[in-house]
Amino acid sequence: MRTIEHALGSLLSSCAWAQASDVPGVLLRAIMLAILLSGCEAPKVLAPPPPLRAASAASYAVDVEFDVPLDRASAEDASRYSLIPASGGTPASISSATLVDTLYGRVVQLLIPDWLSSNPDTTDFDLTVSNVQSITGRSTGIRAVRFRTGLSYRAPMRAWFDSNCDRCHGAAQQDGSYRTDSYAALLGGGTNATANVIPGDPMCLTVVKCKPHNSMFNAANLTYFDYELIKNWVESFNARF
Ligand code: HEC
Repeated sequence: MRTIEHALGSLLSSCAWAQASDVPGVLLRAIMLAILLSGCEAPKVLAPPPPLRAASAASYAVDVEFDVPLDRASAEDASRYSLIPASGGTPASISSATLVDTLYGRVVQLLIPDWLSSNPDTTDFDLTVSNVQSITGRSTGIRAVRFRTGLSYRAPMRAWFDSNCDRCHGAAQQDGSYRTDSYAALLGGGTNATANVIPGDPMCLTVVKCKPHNSMFNAANLTYFDYELIKNWVESFNARF
């Protein structure tokens, strides 16, 4: 059943008009199934995404990805999120929650203004989300995930390139004459001498290719959260090692 829900979730993502509709959940699912059978944009049925992912978007912001498209009002209610240091202590206060992913409706960005001055870089936090609703009005329940603030090549980006890119850009295969399996190679050129990752520049080739619907977004089956991750590493954290 969960798998079917995931498949329907990705269908919802690929059919923008359905997100705007008010049709009750059951009917909506029936319509989605009919669309699946008739082949709307022929979405691939992928392995189910993890229920919750979180990563720093900047020193004072956190991106949170759900596995289903969300109801905007509940997704943007900051009181449904809590961020507690893994070592214990007081929760960080969250000033806003914004649904930044207007394509798939699954990524919310939390702002934590206190972190502008205290900047807890490389610190583990436990994020808990309570009763954020999916676009079909179903509660996503209470979910938690631990993440480390700050983005660096060593963690989590090296593992991210490894699982998403290295099979086509590694030792065995170098598509586009480009390798993503070392920091030096990432910052190098591919088919020409221009660097593909330029610290601070969200318009550099590697980031642009990972934008939703661009070639590497599709080749690697990325999500909006993945695009945010690579963009924020390059732009907000200067593609640091
Ligand atoms: C299924 C194979 C495949 C996967 C997975 C893949 N790529 Fe590619 N990539 C290609 C192919 C083929 C090309 C050459 C054609 C093109 O430029 O679109 C390419 C080209 C590129 C280029 C352009 C290189 C140049 O200098 O012209 C960049 C940058 C790139 N990929 C980044 C990535 C990143 C980052 C990932 C992981 C998120 C990724 N790719 C995952 C197949 C893949």
